[in-house]
This record gives sequence, structure tokens and C-alpha cells, in this order.
Amino acid sequence: MSSALKIGVAGLGTVGVGVIKVLTENAYTISARAGREIRVTAVSARDRSKARGVVLDGLTWYDNAMDLAADDNVDVVVELIGGSDGIAKNLVEAVLASSTHVVTANKALIAHHGLNLARSAEEAGASLAYEAAVAGGIPIIKALREGLAANTIQGVHGILNGTCNYILSSMTDSGRSFDAVLAEATDLGYAELDPSFDVDGIDAAHKLAILASVAFGTEVDFDSVYVEGIRHVSPVDIHFARELGYGIKLLGVAKRRKDGIEQRVHPCMVPVDAPINHVSGVFNGIVVDGDFVDATIYEGRGAGEGPTASAVIADIIDIARNSQVPTFGVATADLKPSRTVPMSDHVGPYYVRLTVIDKPGVFADVAACLKSNNVSMGSVLQHSRDPGEPVAVVLTLHETEERAMVMTLTEIEALELVVEPPVMIRIEEFH
Ligand code: HSE
Repeated sequence: MSSALKIGVAGLGTVGVGVIKVLTENAYTISARAGREIRVTAVSARDRSKARGVVLDGLTWYDNAMDLAADDNVDVVVELIGGSDGIAKNLVEAVLASSTHVVTANKALIAHHGLNLARSAEEAGASLAYEAAVAGGIPIIKALREGLAANTIQGVHGILNGTCNYILSSMTDSGRSFDAVLAEATDLGYAELDPSFDVDGIDAAHKLAILASVAFGTEVDFDSVYVEGIRHVSPVDIHFARELGYGIKLLGVAKRRKDGIEQRVHPCMVPVDAPINHVSGVFNGIVVDGDFVDATIYEGRGAGEGPTASAVIADIIDIARNSQVPTFGVATADLKPSRTVPMSDHVGPYYVRLTVIDKPGVFADVAACLKSNNVSMGSVLQHSRDPGEPVAVVLTLHETEERAMVMTLTEIEALELVVEPPVMIRIEEFH
């Protein structure tokens, strides 16, 4: 066997502890697969005295993670600090500058700075590996970059945030409101105390930007991702969705088009029998369409100690095997600009819920707005209420351009008998 591969772990939270545990418990299997021993030699975390349930005796301890970059007894630095900037970015830059390999679970860092970091890694001849940054334990980066390398990827649809999927699944099962389920998710420790990165779609958008780059061979372009979270999804829309044959999921969608790529994260109605609609609770699920392989589906845990450590260690094993592939699947010089299509150019079917006063003529007024924007209706649903009372009217619209949809909704909202802002949810049909 070759000499041991020496690992420095920056950050001893849930994932850092998980990495040490899995490396210890599966040491034999891992070293057999890696062809050499993998040994943690150094760690960095803020609090030395904290009980973590793993043995840290004999490891070099750094209070300042930056010191890992200068440790000659470290071949790979595993960055588990998090955040797109600050110490995590400084550390990764310093480690790559010293031609040492980096493994990270940091989606924000890769989404914001992936291109420059990949260039640095290339110049240094080092690996920048980030399997754990997207969908936790699901090996989706490897699947896209290596397993599906023969294909032109047409599209990626993903449930990329377990917190949102838990909330939407629980709202669907129980009929409770977003706020009630979020409060419960926070109590159970599924949601962060500040849940905005999750529920506002940012976390999913970080992951989508990375997937789009690997799928299409384009520069990572987080700033071009259209992002809408799940705060406005209500039990009434979940109820109507079910009546129409749909479930509601927060999806990250990256699609190839003739004029560029779509990159968007927003709540979607998906057919109840679509495989992705069966990915529930905290699980993540991703559908990748390739031109020759057709649809491939991946499901698993998108977060947590074991699944994320599993992905981190898969990257470490690649490095131990001297298996190096371009960070985003092609050399950085060959990555193309992303040319993201603006959301106003999106074309698809839509669900719209209006709250109207149930009086003669209201529907004719709504229909006139559809007609003036050349928007074609697929179905309409209204449950009876007392005349003169507000009532929900649900429309589905055939494929239409988002800009026409926005103009239509602006006109509808201005109608006298429409008493609340319309609710619009995009439909993703998966065909
Ligand atoms: N907060 C993420 C989620 C996990 O809820 O899926 C880490 O990316």
C-alpha cells in the first residue's frame, strides 16, 4: 500500500464529527477502496473542551483554521466551516495556493466563487471536490460529471432542500399552515433558527447553480438563478392542487434551451404520480434527463451527519486514488458563459387562484384579461359560496410565456370584484 493520505478537518460540527466517525468505523473498507490508509492528522474548531463523541487524542489542534493551510503534515483540507466568504473562502484559497487538495461541503462558497476556485485548483494541480455540497448523501455530482458524461444533459429537476420538502410534505399531510409547520420543524431541529436560507430558496439555488454548471459545462452563475421560496404556499393551494392532480414541491430546475439555459427555484405543481412527487419529508430527489440515457432518478438524504460524511469521504477516496477530474466536468477554459434565459421568457402551464366576489360578470371580466394577453385557459374550478361573498376561483392556463402571465395577473388584480392579489404557481408536467 502507498503511504497514508493525511487529512486536516476544518470545522467539527455535525459533519466534521461524522467524517471522523465514518473514517474510524469503516477504516478497513475505506482504506481497501482507497488503496491506502486515510488518516486524520489535524483538526480546527473553536472550542477544544466541547464533548463531541469522537477521539481527537494525538491530532494537531488549530484554533485558527488558516493554520491548516501551512501544515506540511496535511495532504487534504476538508473545509466544513460554511459561508460563502470570510474564513472558509480565505482557507480554501490558501490551501489551493499551497497545492494542497480541498474537499468541501460548502455550497454557498462553490455557488459564489466556484469558477475562480476551480481555476486556482487547476493551476495548482490540486483537487477541489464538493460532492457533499449538493444533496448531501446523493452522489449527484459524480453521476452528472462521470456517470452521465456521454450525454448532452437536457435538464435537471431537483428537490434540493430537505427543510422545504419536510414543510411542504407536512402541510400536505396535515392541512396545517406554513407558519405552524415551520414552528414544528424548528422545534424538531429540522429547520435552522434563522430558516430564511432554506425557506426563501437560497440554499436550493446555491445547489442548482452548481448542478447547472456540471450539467451544461457552463460557468457557475448563482446571480442569474431566479429564486422564489415557499412562504406564500398555503393549505388552500395544496388542497386545490390535489383536486387538479398535482402535488406542490420546491424544485430547482435547470433546462437547456436553444437560446440559453433556464435556472430557477420556485414552488411547482407536479403530477401526483410523477416520481419526484413521492420524494417526501426531509429527503432530496433529482431527475436528470440525458439525450441517450433518458431520465435518471436519484433519491436520498440531503443532509445530516452520516449522509454528508459519506459524500465528503467519497471525495477523499478519489484523491487517495489519484483520480482527478475537472472540477465542473470540463477544464475551466472550456466552461461557457451561462447565458441564463430571463424568467420573463419562461414558457409553461400555470395555476392561478383568484379571490373574487361572486357576482354576475366577474368571470367575464377575468376572461377578458386572459383574452387581451392571448392566454389560453385549460380548466376552471369554483366551489359554491353565497352570492356576493368572496370565493376562490382556480384556473389552470395552457403553456404561456411568463411575461404574458404577469401582465394578465396585473390586469386581473385591478378588477373591482377581485379582492385579493392573485396567487400563481407554475406547473411542471415532466414530459
Ligand atoms: N439546510 C439544507 C436542507 C441542508 O434543509 O436541505 C444542507 O444543505
